[in-house]
Amino acid sequence: MSQRLQADFAGLKLEHPILAASAGTTRDAERCFRAEEAGFSAVILKSVQEELVNRYNPLPRFSIVDSGIPGFNSVSFLSYEQAFEGDIHDYAEVVRQTRKRLSIPVIASINCIENESWANYAQIVAQAGADAVEMVPSCPAGAFIREGAEFTPIATNVLRAVRGKIDIPAGIKMTQQLANPIACAVTLEAEGSRWVTMFNRNPGLHIDIERMCPIMHRSACGHGGPWAALAITRWIAYAFPHLKIPISATGGVTRWEDVVRYLLAGAANVQIASLIYMRGYEVVREMLGSIEAYLDRMEIESIDGLIGKAVSKLQPLEAVDKTGRYLAVVTDRCVKCGKCKNICLYDAISYPDDTPSIDPNLCDGCGLCAQICSGAIVMKRTTSQN
Ligand SMILES: Cc1cc2nc3c(=O)[nH]c(=O)nc-3n(C[C@H](O)[C@H](O)[C@H](O)COP(=O)(O)O)c2cc1C
Ligand code: SF4
Ligand code: SF4
Repeated sequence: MSQRLQADFAGLKLEHPILAASAGTTRDAERCFRAEEAGFSAVILKSVQEELVNRYNPLPRFSIVDSGIPGFNSVSFLSYEQAFEGDIHDYAEVVRQTRKRLSIPVIASINCIENESWANYAQIVAQAGADAVEMVPSCPAGAFIREGAEFTPIATNVLRAVRGKIDIPAGIKMTQQLANPIACAVTLEAEGSRWVTMFNRNPGLHIDIERMCPIMHRSACGHGGPWAALAITRWIAYAFPHLKIPISATGGVTRWEDVVRYLLAGAANVQIASLIYMRGYEVVREMLGSIEAYLDRMEIESIDGLIGKAVSKLQPLEAVDKTGRYLAVVTDRCVKCGKCKNICLYDAISYPDDTPSIDPNLCDGCGLCAQICSGAIVMKRTTSQN
C-alpha cells in the first residue's frame, strides 16, 4: 500500500483513510478479518449495547426502498438491525479474538444507558485489547434517539464517565438528530472526545400504502443512502474550522468520489457500512486505486493535502455573486428526447416540430433544463465575470 494514503486517527496509524464502520459486517473476528483482507485500514466492531431489548434481531431486518424520482434513481437502505447479540463479556471475547487475528487497528463500539456502565464497558473492551473505543449514544434503535432525548448532555456525561478510566483513545459517534451539530462537536471536544464521528444513521419510517402499515416490524429504524451524504458533508465542512480533533465521516458513501468529498470537507477518515452489505468487502480496493489516481491527477502528495481543502472556499450568503445573467442554449447535441418539455417554469421552452427551442426573452437562466438534459443544453453567461 502506498505511503501517501496513510492517515493518522487519534494516534492510530492507518494505512489509508477508509474504515469498516460498526455494523453486522464487523460483528465477529471472521468478518473483521474479511474486511482486513479486502483492504480496509481499520475495523470498528459491531456495537455492544447495555439495553437488553436492543441485543436481539427480529427477522427479516433489511429493506431497500426505491426512493428516487423516476429517471433519477436513488435508494434508502432501512435496517432493523440491533446490537451485538451478547453481553459485554461475550463482546470482550470477540474483541480479543479480533485483535489476535488482525494486524490493523480494532476499534470497539459501546452503547450503554447508565454512566457507570459506560465506564465499565469501556474498561472491559480496553482490557480485551481494543485499540480505541467509539462510544455510541447515537444509535437510531437506542433509547436516547428513540425517545428524542437531548444528545449533547448525554454524550457529555458519557465522556465524563470514562474520563481517566481507560488509556485508549475514545470518541463519540454523534447523531444528526440535533439542532446544531457544530455546537455539539465543540462541546464534545472540550469534554475530551478524541474524535467525533459524524453521524450515525437517523431513525426513519417507511409506510406500505397497500397495507396502510409501516414496514420493518412496524417501527422506525435506521435508514440511510447516498442522499444522506450531502447533509453530512455540510455539517463536516462547517464544523471543521471549529475543531482540533479529527472528524470521522460516515453516511452514504457509494463511490470513491464520496470519500474524497468527505476528506475535502474536513474529515480525517471515512467509515463505510451499507455499501459492504450491498456489494461486499471488496469495494474498498477499487476505491483506493481511484483515490491514488486522483491524488496523481491533482498533484497532491498525500491524504493530508486533501483534508479540509474545500472549506476555505465556502462562501457566506453576502458574498455570493447575484449579478451574473445566463441564458440556456440548445446545441446540436440535442437528441429530441423530450425530457426538457414541460419543465420550464418561465415558459421559455417550446417544441415546434418536436424540437426544443428556447426563447431568450423568457429564459430566466435558472439552469434547470441544462441539469435535466444530458449535455445538449449549455448555460451561456451574458454578463461579464466580475
Ligand atoms: C445494518 C446496519 C447496522 C449498523 N449497526 C451499527 C452499530 O451497531 N453501531 C454503530 O455505531 N453503527 C451502526 N451502523 C451505522 C454504520 O456504522 C454507519 O455509521 C452508517 O450506516 C452510515 O454509513 P453507510 O451509509 O456507509 O452505511 C449500522 C448500519 C447498518 C446499515
Ligand atoms: S432534454 Fe436535451 S436532448 Fe432532450 S430534447 Fe431537451 S435539449 Fe434535447
Ligand atoms: S434556464 Fe431555466 S428559465 Fe431558461 S429555459 Fe432553462 S428552465 Fe427555462
